[in-house]
Amino acid sequence: MIAIQEHLDAAGEHSTDAAALGLVPPPDLAVQFGGGDFLRIGRNLLQRLVDWCGLLPSERVLDAGCGAGRAAVPLTGYLGPLGGYEGFDVYPLGVQWCRTHLTPVFPNFRFQVVDVYNALSNPAGTVHARDFRFPFQDASFDLALLNSVFTHMLPEDVLGYVGELARVLDRGGRAYVTWFLLDEQSLRIGPERTVGVRLAHRCGPCYLQNRADPEEAVGYARGFVLDLFRNAGLEVVDVRPGAWRGIKSGHYQDVTVVRVAN
Ligand SMILES: C[S@@+](CC[C@H](N)C(=O)[O-])C[C@H]1O[C@@H](n2cnc3c(N)ncnc32)[C@H](O)[C@@H]1O
Repeated sequence: MIAIQEHLDAAGEHSTDAAALGLVPPPDLAVQFGGGDFLRIGRNLLQRLVDWCGLLPSERVLDAGCGAGRAAVPLTGYLGPLGGYEGFDVYPLGVQWCRTHLTPVFPNFRFQVVDVYNALSNPAGTVHARDFRFPFQDASFDLALLNSVFTHMLPEDVLGYVGELARVLDRGGRAYVTWFLLDEQSLRIGPERTVGVRLAHRCGPCYLQNRADPEEAVGYARGFVLDLFRNAGLEVVDVRPGAWRGIKSGHYQDVTVVRVAN
């Protein structure tokens, strides 16, 4: 494991992040995106981006479904002036907080609301995720992050987003994407013994917690996900199982790390 501080020292960056400046969203806002310890979870996520995806302070980061800035807050102390961050989300309140509090202090951190439909977060959205073009040019990013986003999206929408991921990543680009992956092990323990989620209803390639509200929690057959990436020109370099499947793990959802195939 490479400590974040080593990268900062090598890059000559300072380590003051938004949290050190008291810039953290109010708890009611932060809790909308999964609850728990907002800062600790965010810092651990940053460490995984560095360790597993090789994120450097000079890189351009996309955070699709950025919530209330759980990744952005620690990233403010990591990305240097050559790097940059773009976040978007369908839920306006988290984005508004980030725009008001983070961007004025860290101008290379930008946030936008997108009018994409999601039954939970934006039921009035007018664009289907499957038709949504990310508001960025081709090859704009070195690293993309979707943390706990595809766990709330349905297959055609995920397909569209993976295509967009491949489009906006530059050569050498990587993505960190989390899932509930259904494979031999998670199917064997079954929905009664998974932690914090019960994906009891199979529906094509996905497994739903609640048929009446499918985007509440969505899992995917592992093979479906691997094919999805491959077909989009993204090579899967790592699959890291998470604690949701009843195993000991330092993170909750399963993590896939992919990179633009040569
Ligand atoms: C569990 S939260 C995770 C937020 C953030 N990634 C984090 O780790 O704190 C899921 C987020 O995905 C957002 N979301 C849902 N559907 C989306 C879509 N189609 N495009 C972008 N964001 C979406 C929700 O509004 C919500 O902020």
